[in-house]
Amino acid sequence: MPAHLTAEQTVSLRPDETTALWQAARDLARSADLPALDADGLTRLACGLVPALPPHLLRALHAHRSGAGLDALLVTGLLPPDQEWGSTPPGSAAPLTGPDQAAALCLLGVALQLGEPFTFRTFYEGRLVQHVVPVPSMEHTQTSESSDGMLDWHVEDGFSPDRCDHVGLLCLRGEPAAYTRFTSARDLDLPEDVREVLRRPAFLMAPDTAHVLEDRRPVPTPVLWGPREAPQICYDAHYLSPPPDGGETADRALRLLAAELDARQVEHTLAPGELLLLDNRRTVHGRTPFTARGDGTDRWLLRTMICSSLPRYRECGARVRPPLEVPAAASATPGKGAP
Ligand SMILES: [Fe+2]
Repeated sequence: MPAHLTAEQTVSLRPDETTALWQAARDLARSADLPALDADGLTRLACGLVPALPPHLLRALHAHRSGAGLDALLVTGLLPPDQEWGSTPPGSAAPLTGPDQAAALCLLGVALQLGEPFTFRTFYEGRLVQHVVPVPSMEHTQTSESSDGMLDWHVEDGFSPDRCDHVGLLCLRGEPAAYTRFTSARDLDLPEDVREVLRRPAFLMAPDTAHVLEDRRPVPTPVLWGPREAPQICYDAHYLSPPPDGGETADRALRLLAAELDARQVEHTLAPGELLLLDNRRTVHGRTPFTARGDGTDRWLLRTMICSSLPRYRECGARVRPPLEVPAAASATPGKGAP
């Protein structure tokens, strides 16, 4: 039986706070030619929204950033409940054209409290804020454009050591059948011998198909590491393979891990105006299937990724990063189960 987000993992804006934040976001969106801004320009614009964030939201975000036992934080009431959004866009990289511009600024304003919003050039045309929407012909893929198929357990961009520390999902239009689910690595109940196997930095993670990459060689990685009370995890049900010499021991460790991910999951159906922030280094997430209608009323989220390490962000040198380079030491063994 899945668990649900606790009161400690939830922060709710009062209606007057929602109204004031939305007014500030709309004013800010109107003050610039937003579609003409690059990722840095969009982020600079969103900085102007930070003073409009309610103090109790700021406190909750900073507690989440510090990792004080919270691997997920749900913000409710970030957007007005009665807002008309227009039609759900047709794809992840569609431009922001209407009130979604102000919503994107709300998302980025919150994201800036956890670190630096960023993305990869290889991912949905390098859009800093992507639409998470069902796309025809992608129904059964292991991407956020899927719908009819289960989006299985994964971390964002597990093949990249520069993957985000946090991911933010802001709901504009909900879908009752689509449960977002996640499991915290700290909740996993695994024997020590299994943890030892999963700590080997020899599992192989291949890039997922959402990235446009020529070189799709998998990258070696451990699956579970770090302190027992706050471990980090890198897992993907489809793109992660056991070490070539791992044998039955590694296969068994992955099977036990997958069972624990199911057993310890927390699930939530995102409602309009809700923002779910997940720690991408300490949780694994997925989404249950739903049926897309294709009539402009489908599920619609905005997503951005966040780097919480300022030194790492500065080393990468750009908010929209160049195509990832697979380390030379990576094995040429292909990943399994690419959909
Ligand atoms: Fe995801």
